[in-house]
Amino acid sequence: MYADDDARDRLGTTLIGARMVHHEQVDSTNLEALRLAGQQAPVGTVVTARTQTAGRGRLGRGWFDAPGRCLLLSALLEPLAGGAGLLTAAGALAVASAVRSLGAQAAIKWPNDVLIGGRKVAGVLAEGPREGLFALGIGVNVNGRPADLPGELRDSATFLSHELGREVDLRALQAEVLRGLDDAVARLLAGEGASLVEEIAGYDCLAGRRVRARAGERELTGEALGWADDGRLVVRDDGGRRVRLDAGEVTLI
Ligand code: BTN
Repeated sequence: MYADDDARDRLGTTLIGARMVHHEQVDSTNLEALRLAGQQAPVGTVVTARTQTAGRGRLGRGWFDAPGRCLLLSALLEPLAGGAGLLTAAGALAVASAVRSLGAQAAIKWPNDVLIGGRKVAGVLAEGPREGLFALGIGVNVNGRPADLPGELRDSATFLSHELGREVDLRALQAEVLRGLDDAVARLLAGEGASLVEEIAGYDCLAGRRVRARAGERELTGEALGWADDGRLVVRDDGGRRVRLDAGEVTLI
């Protein structure tokens, strides 16, 4: 493990990278970030890892990584007025715009997936709070081929390099994502959540499409209308009612 307290200067960020802690191997950068929160780590602390032994995904799932070829990071952040939903949105936007700047057609699938060509290349997971802070975790599959993925993910996930047809500089991508996250979080803290959501609309792959949504016990079908300013997904169900979802699973029909 090594720690770096000058990362903000190098990154040119104001909040993100207040402290950078890197692990060759850790159970989960989200869990490690929350442990550091318990040790009074500053807001903006970022935990990175070469590999995770117990990577955490949404809805109790795990998160796969190809060691040394994926971006695995978690940032410690204060809760926002709009809740964890907008934190997740900030993470997804930071990844999607970094991916797009490399030349790939990134899309955001509410609430936390970044896709290229319909396949998932990144996921975002906010967990906490601990000592009043959330760990915003970001995982990106960077350099690899579909054959490197576990069988059950081969049809639904991909690697950035595979989509671009070239290797990607992991460190440069990490810096770009952290700068994007810094910018997005600053906008949220300044009360500009609506402009963030507007920008996300430019990546939204669900708006205008028919979806099936599951939220807890509830299942509905309808048309996705887009993200609400608080990060929830607005769906017009088949009965004509506007429903706002704040969690759950959405699939395109
Ligand atoms: C999802 O799409 O299900 C969310 C995946 C989030 C994965 C990242 S990898 C870095 C951080 N640490 C974790 O254990 N999970 C997140």
